[in-house]
Amino acid sequence: MTDFCGLSLSGPVLNGSGTFDAIAAQRTFGDALWDAFPFDAFVTKTITVLPRQGNPPPRLWETPAGLINSIGLPNKGLEGFLEGDLPQLRRLPVPLVVSVMGYGPDELAALVRGVAPRDEVEALELNVSCPNVASGLIMGSDPAETARAVEAVRPVTDKPVIVKLTPNATDPAGVAAAAESAGADAVSLVNTLKGMALHPRTREPWLGGGAGGVSGPAIRAVALEQVHAVAGRVGIPVVGMGGITSGAHARDFLDAGATVVAVGTESFRDPAAGSRIADELRVILRQERGFSGVTAVPIDPR
Ligand SMILES: Cc1cc2nc3c(=O)[nH]c(=O)nc-3n(C[C@H](O)[C@H](O)[C@H](O)COP(=O)(O)O)c2cc1C
Repeated sequence: MTDFCGLSLSGPVLNGSGTFDAIAAQRTFGDALWDAFPFDAFVTKTITVLPRQGNPPPRLWETPAGLINSIGLPNKGLEGFLEGDLPQLRRLPVPLVVSVMGYGPDELAALVRGVAPRDEVEALELNVSCPNVASGLIMGSDPAETARAVEAVRPVTDKPVIVKLTPNATDPAGVAAAAESAGADAVSLVNTLKGMALHPRTREPWLGGGAGGVSGPAIRAVALEQVHAVAGRVGIPVVGMGGITSGAHARDFLDAGATVVAVGTESFRDPAAGSRIADELRVILRQERGFSGVTAVPIDPR
């Protein structure tokens, strides 16, 4: 068992928000999904107060080592989530974490007020990679903005609050420290890095939204460094993610200071990636324990 800010998880592998749709997967794979659920906790796609259509297509560009996405957070909004999705997610065999995003601290607090009292919900993740409409600043790129967001949410719930950090910040460790001081129970990182691709012929931006977010193996080294820096700065648990496609990568993030890891883009290639990565990680840890257990080789004094 893995303890993660008070939640008892059967292992250390979560999904990255927005990269695994448990409801669509259940439609495709049927109830077998609940018996072999690939993650030890499930993080929903980010929801907002009002429904959103998301960005115009195209929304994805494949890079040599991952994706650029410009999905734009399409979702049913708070009411749609509570009425449509939550009753279906009740059947999940693992703890449910709901990801929320608001255009300012008050909206975040309203979302948490709506979601957190529901028994099915065990934790909240604050996606702070968006602008505060009042200041124009990306909340997660600024320590004071992040602190204000957490302070608004903290009095609303006793359930664990995870702050999802953006890598597009000058000092992610400073932002993490501000989140911790304001009362966050954990931080997760990294979200996607800003990027773009051009249409091969028109030379205009390929993605309907213009720029997008880069994810997958291309960002793993950047994510590992940020996880290491953040884990060295805060005392709260860290969810490490960014380009993890194997148990060896998961092991790297744990050694860099993460408490648990999350798998994102790899689930598009292999929906069972979470289970495979957990299995590979178990083998690596077992082999290393076995190996280090042989350190006391007796030396024959003759
Ligand atoms: C298609 C797609 C959609 C995503 N949607 C969200 C989202 O709704 N909320 C969020 O916090 N992160 C979202 N992310 C970011 C991932 O959760 C994760 O932080 C990021 O992709 C890095 O992990 P990875 O390299 O393993 O994919 C999304 C990523 C992708 C590729």
